[in-house]
Amino acid sequence: MEKRKFLYDGKAKQLYATDDPELIIMLFKDDASAYNGVKKSSIKNKGILNNKISSLIFQKLEENGIKTHFVKQLDDCNQLCKKTEVIPLEFIVRNVVAGSLARRLDIEEGFVPANPIYEICYKNDDLRDPFINETHARAMNLATEEELKQILRLVPQINEIMIDMFANVGITVVDFKMEFGRDKNGQLLLIDEISPDSARFWDSKTKNRLDKDRFRRDMGKIEEAYREVLERLGER
Ligand code: TYD
Repeated sequence: MEKRKFLYDGKAKQLYATDDPELIIMLFKDDASAYNGVKKSSIKNKGILNNKISSLIFQKLEENGIKTHFVKQLDDCNQLCKKTEVIPLEFIVRNVVAGSLARRLDIEEGFVPANPIYEICYKNDDLRDPFINETHARAMNLATEEELKQILRLVPQINEIMIDMFANVGITVVDFKMEFGRDKNGQLLLIDEISPDSARFWDSKTKNRLDKDRFRRDMGKIEEAYREVLERLGER
């Protein structure tokens, strides 16, 4: 599959058209950012590691009946995906309290809530992705009623598959972010990536952080942590 026109340069990925109008190529970069772009740097090999980790996760989700935009991993940094119209919402699921939730509610990181917590953010860089709920999403027409219903059914299913996949390799899925898009037939698909950039993964025993918190909090050993996730999932 040939890379054609450059389409979009994001914080951690670039998108390219292909000779098939229904497919795009997603290139994973080493660029890292946090706190809405305030902190920026580059993490050696992050693009390769996230491409591989996200490919394994999307394959596992597909095997379990979740429809995603993932077609195949092309090489180290590139994957082939179905083109979609992005729904401008971010869905976050939290199985363990960490990050902004710990700050917002003054709960200690590591606290396990009685049930998973679901959050929605409006994808809008100028507004810094504000926190909203379903009624805002509906009122602002950011997704159709049917899409929202489907997404709210899918989010817990995806969470269960993720928890199980990572429990098998001794990792706790603390939280992660999902995005959805619609393909040309209006079919809802999970899009973007799920990787240590957009999830928190803790070693189940030691609670060692194997995710972007190492970058956010200047903890060092970032590449090693991402590599550890990939190797535990069974790849090098
Ligand atoms: P959260 O704790 O709300 O934010 P922060 O990363 O600023 O502490 O994030 C919860 C999870 O969702 C975390 O694993 C990062 C991910 N996430 C993104 O990937 N993109 C985003 O825009 C947001 C808000 C969260």
